Amino acid sequence: MPLYRDLAERLRTQIEAGVWQPGERIPSIRQSCQAHRLSPMTVLQAYQLLESQGLLQARPQSGYYVKGSPARQPTAMGVTRYTGAVDINDLVFEVLQASKARNLVPLGMAVADPHLFPLPRLGRLLAGCMRSLDPFSTVTDLPPGNEALRRAIAQRYARHGLPVDPGEIIITTGAMEALSLSLQALTEPGDWVAVESPTFYGALQAIERLKLRAVEIPVIPGVGICLSRLEAALRDRPIKACWLMANVQHPLGHTQRDEHKAALMALLARYRVPVVEDDVYGELYFGRERPLPLKAWDQAGTSLLCSSFSKCVAPGFRVGWVVAGQHAPRIERLQLISTLATNVPSQLALAALLTQGGYDAHLRRLRTTLARRMSQMRSALLALLPESVTLSQPEGGFFLWLTLPPGCDTRALHRQALAAGFSLAPGALFSGGGEHEHGLRLNASLPWSPELEQALSTLAGWIRALCPQT
Ligand SMILES: Cc1ncc(COP(=O)(O)O)c(C=O)c1O
Repeated sequence: MPLYRDLAERLRTQIEAGVWQPGERIPSIRQSCQAHRLSPMTVLQAYQLLESQGLLQARPQSGYYVKGSPARQPTAMGVTRYTGAVDINDLVFEVLQASKARNLVPLGMAVADPHLFPLPRLGRLLAGCMRSLDPFSTVTDLPPGNEALRRAIAQRYARHGLPVDPGEIIITTGAMEALSLSLQALTEPGDWVAVESPTFYGALQAIERLKLRAVEIPVIPGVGICLSRLEAALRDRPIKACWLMANVQHPLGHTQRDEHKAALMALLARYRVPVVEDDVYGELYFGRERPLPLKAWDQAGTSLLCSSFSKCVAPGFRVGWVVAGQHAPRIERLQLISTLATNVPSQLALAALLTQGGYDAHLRRLRTTLARRMSQMRSALLALLPESVTLSQPEGGFFLWLTLPPGCDTRALHRQALAAGFSLAPGALFSGGGEHEHGLRLNASLPWSPELEQALSTLAGWIRALCPQT
């Protein structure tokens, strides 16, 4: 084990044992160097790793503190919004189109740095699969999809302690199709669907497309969807489904603790509301173990677990899946009458990757790089931003969320940024009810460069000017 990981593990054990309490300052980098005979860089890497895992918090010019304060519990972000008809597609389209230009520093991008993916290996696998393609596979790999791939996905869940039958998995065109079909299978136009607030704009787009109505339930940063407000909404409206992200929430990056997942699923079971679970970042955790999906607590067997390879290995291949359980036959039919089937060569190449080995090694490297880059960008922003701006503490993935003081509309910052040569994702994208216009999402997967440093410093300068009181 590298020295910095060893030190991080020892510190984690001490924090878990209560040696260092929430809010307390841990030994300085210099003290730790002397105590453990390590270089400052090694100690810093260990501290940054624990920071990225949400255990420590860096305070500029002060040091590293154990995260959390017994006196200050985090509170829910905003209020419950009965948004009703959602109208977000135009804004999402405009922001995504504007952020595509190649010459921008892509801080608004929704995928990780494309150089982090094993594209040459995928290319070789794709070519190999095409050379030995069984012509009949274009028929046999119609919905529910390639059998070897479905078995390999089921085996991965089984290894993480979640028994899944390959027969209940349907391969889809990315997670987006899996999520939309799941929502469609559970609802009729006009039905109410509960989502987190802030949430991934794709959820709002799907709700808009299917002519559903959204209830946006505030999230408690670092904890998860606010259960008391969810329960109030369940009493208030005939909610037909919940679209949720329990692991590495988009855009906040936290992962719900197991107790919260259990309580959430028990609450939804009481009201007989099924979950459409979006687990696309579940493999991009910074902690020690892959967090379990909500499905592990699904006693009623009504939830649908959706994910894809887009975020962790093969962006652009457009291969995802849904573990659909009892809804599998309906989803298969819905797929047959919409996109018909998922691209067969992409399925074969991913099945080969999963069965030939090397996928886990790739994921380990990816997670380490993402955690390091996240920590670096977060530390840089902490030093640049005024105290009235809060930063999320992601436990995985590659998004950082900034909350500016209420009243600041980050759409203006988005336009200024494009003119200055970088992109960002304004908070208005993440709520259909105008709840997070003072938030913004940054992509933290980019390698450090003078251009990135310049973009962050320009952005921080604008934000400081918006918050002159601090
Ligand atoms: C939270 C979340 N869910 C789903 C998706 C869509 O995944 P895919 O590209 O596999 O369709 C994304 C992509 O941005 C996402 O961020």
